[in-house]
Amino acid sequence: MNHLISPSILASDFGNLQRDIEMLNQSEADWIHVDIMDGMFVPNISFGFPIVEVAKKHAAKPLDVHLMIQDPDRYLERFKEAGASGITVHFEACPHLNRTVNAIKYLGCKAGVALNPHTPVGFLEDIIEYLDLVLIMSVNPGFGGQKFIGNTYKKLRELKKMSSGRNAKLYIEVDGGVDESNSLKLINAGANVLVAGNSVFSAKNPVAAIKTLKHPH
Ligand code: DX5
Ligand code: ZN
Repeated sequence: MNHLISPSILASDFGNLQRDIEMLNQSEADWIHVDIMDGMFVPNISFGFPIVEVAKKHAAKPLDVHLMIQDPDRYLERFKEAGASGITVHFEACPHLNRTVNAIKYLGCKAGVALNPHTPVGFLEDIIEYLDLVLIMSVNPGFGGQKFIGNTYKKLRELKKMSSGRNAKLYIEVDGGVDESNSLKLINAGANVLVAGNSVFSAKNPVAAIKTLKHPH
């Protein structure tokens, strides 16, 4: 599978959200990554439904919603209604992950599970077949613009190995500190979806930065 690019609007200019989303529409971005933080599961609060609805209104590409919230089951339907195409929940926030994943699929969304940097890939052994996507966090969730954590490569290789044969079409997404210096290495380790916040939106030319992530060398 050719890898996908999912720029995170957490790093966009919220005062010009429509403009920034229209820029993504014109770029080689495949998905639009939407980071939801509740101030409980993670120490930061980002934004909620009204912003997701604005993103949906202007986006010509699927919204890839990453829920960094406690007990996400309470809000799955609301995020679907707000425009999510895929919903990713955190392994660490879901005591009944199988039920949560089924609920996401029942809504007609792609179901993803995110792992914090310290959470072993092996914990997905008994659910991997049911997932559309696994998101490997390469920073501690909560903030954009953090430094990439190196053990991500090992986790990607392990996940790739676990999924091949059992779920060959799995989206393997990596999120946090992704830029042109590590993108090729991440793809070679098994990632097929790259999330990028600051490396896209802080670039002088975000469309060119997305292009470089899409065609790394
Ligand atoms: C971090 C978020 C990321 C963040 C990535 O908690 O999940 O999606 O926006 O931002 P960068 O690419 O700047 O590390
Ligand atoms: Zn994210």
